[in-house]
Amino acid sequence: MCGIVGYVGPRDCSDVLVSALTRLEYRGYDSAGIAVFENGKIEVAKTKGRLSDLSEKMEKEGKPKGHAGIGHTRWATHGQPSYVNSHPHSGKRVTIVHNGIIENYIELKEYLTKKGKTFLSDTDTEVVAQLLDLKYDGDPLDTIHTVIRMLKGSFALGIVFADYPDTVFAVRRESPLIVGVGDNESFIASDVPAILNYTKKYYLMNHDEIVKLTHDGVEFFDSHMLPITKELQEADWDMDAAEKGGYPHFMIKEIHEQPEAIKRTVLPRIRDNMPDLSECGITLENIKDFKNIHIVACGTAMHAGMVGKYVIEGLARVPVNVDIASEFRYRNPLVGEGDLVIIISQSGETADSKAAMSLAKEYGAKTLAIVNAKGSSIAREADMLIYTHAGPEIAVASTKAYMVQIAVMYLFAFQLALAKGRITEDECKSLLTSLMEVPDKVEETLEKVMDDCQYAGSSLVNADSLLYIGRGLDYALSMEGSLKLKEISYIHSESYAAGELKHGTISLITEEMPVIAVATQNALFEKTLSNVKEVRSRGAYVILVCDEECHIGSDVADQIIRVPKIREELMPMLAIVPLQLIAYYTSLHRGNDIDKPRNLAKSVTVE
Ligand code: F6R
Repeated sequence: MCGIVGYVGPRDCSDVLVSALTRLEYRGYDSAGIAVFENGKIEVAKTKGRLSDLSEKMEKEGKPKGHAGIGHTRWATHGQPSYVNSHPHSGKRVTIVHNGIIENYIELKEYLTKKGKTFLSDTDTEVVAQLLDLKYDGDPLDTIHTVIRMLKGSFALGIVFADYPDTVFAVRRESPLIVGVGDNESFIASDVPAILNYTKKYYLMNHDEIVKLTHDGVEFFDSHMLPITKELQEADWDMDAAEKGGYPHFMIKEIHEQPEAIKRTVLPRIRDNMPDLSECGITLENIKDFKNIHIVACGTAMHAGMVGKYVIEGLARVPVNVDIASEFRYRNPLVGEGDLVIIISQSGETADSKAAMSLAKEYGAKTLAIVNAKGSSIAREADMLIYTHAGPEIAVASTKAYMVQIAVMYLFAFQLALAKGRITEDECKSLLTSLMEVPDKVEETLEKVMDDCQYAGSSLVNADSLLYIGRGLDYALSMEGSLKLKEISYIHSESYAAGELKHGTISLITEEMPVIAVATQNALFEKTLSNVKEVRSRGAYVILVCDEECHIGSDVADQIIRVPKIREELMPMLAIVPLQLIAYYTSLHRGNDIDKPRNLAKSVTVE
């Protein structure tokens, strides 16, 4: 979490830093700050609150004026959000911004205190600033090199030295960092969208590499301080993808982008009406022998894995274990040679998912990453890699990334089922034909359910607690619906396998407990309907999500939201849309900050 940026070039540096940071606010938004060289001196402006508060403050008090500097938007880890804990942090001759966690900061702080250093903040970052200051020998590269060898944990650091005006240094370990280059200007940033206003060209930094930005260009050094050249990357996202484009929130824009995202993700992986994942390192030959699959991820990505489990087990008949990454990494999992571990991650930087992948490799399993962010750590370290092409997802609540993660789960399941001889080529073609219909059906769903979901949102606005129920794939989907609702509306909700209600949870049902039931699977429909009757007869207000062809009376539930019909294995890709929209509208009616929900950040690069 936290976003860092840096700039050296002819433009007004404060403006560039603030504009770049706006694209990173999804990473944290409890304080913000910049440091800019003004007439050769480092000037700092920072505040508790959002970037808009920083801009307001600089408007009133004046902004630093110059052409090189660093900036930060924070998601607090060490010390509460406050002015003193805001970045940048300084020693006498060094000022820094930091994303990550310094695990040994307490012992370093003791060491520095003994050396006479004093501290203003509670942060681990100030410890690094003071350490750089202590070790500074007049040579920034040498100093950074010495200091990072003393640090344990994760960091991306933007660093300016008072003795080196208009020069920005940066280094990373574990935390993400890119270096953008334009005409006579250069940037550092935690993520690509930050620089898209200025350039699409960027370099990826490896662990412990150092970069130096000056008005003459950028220079890279490896972990032994030897100069290196790097391969230039080009972003395939444009600025529109990182703007709201007329929508009131990124979340609703991203919900509407789902049909295109599915097309971008699925179509290039189809050849002659058959799945073709060979560019991702996956062939029929190299997946046919996997006996066990583990899907490991966090939050929404883990819920995509739950859908994957049902689909892979159903079609390919291979056992799939879905694990929360933070559990998997600490429970000595039963994983080994011959197993496949699939890591799903939008950001490709989630600390627990990354650690889970390293563990899986250590245990001898093959790893497959399903990742949205190009060049991210998880993408770079996996044995096989399928990129989801959702484009930049800015809203903290994930929608389109989830949708394409599921799309990839289907593609992979089809390929594996074929490799295992569980489906014929014709069956595979027919499944793919249906998958290709999904984008249009999602479009249709959006048109069809929008008003219903606004209405549902208004009826849930005063609820204190909610249950989502479903069976099979609908249960997997309910988990995601429930997470979406709680993260942005702040209403407590849980998802339950509908058949499990009567084993305890049904005691919670009263008129005060609305229930959202998802019933899109034919074989389970009647069963779920019985559960709907059970909760209604105990007073619950029920919203039922089903397909438009199911034959039920309008009095079966208090509100029925019907989505278009597609073959039932693929129904999650349509039924998730109303669940996303219900969360969105409930949050809207409650007046919440939808794109930046409290206490959250999009990229969880700390444990
Ligand atoms: C919820 C959400 C989170 C993420 C989770 C994993 O809307 O976005 O639950 O899914 O933090 O993040 P990634 O996919 O980046 O590993």
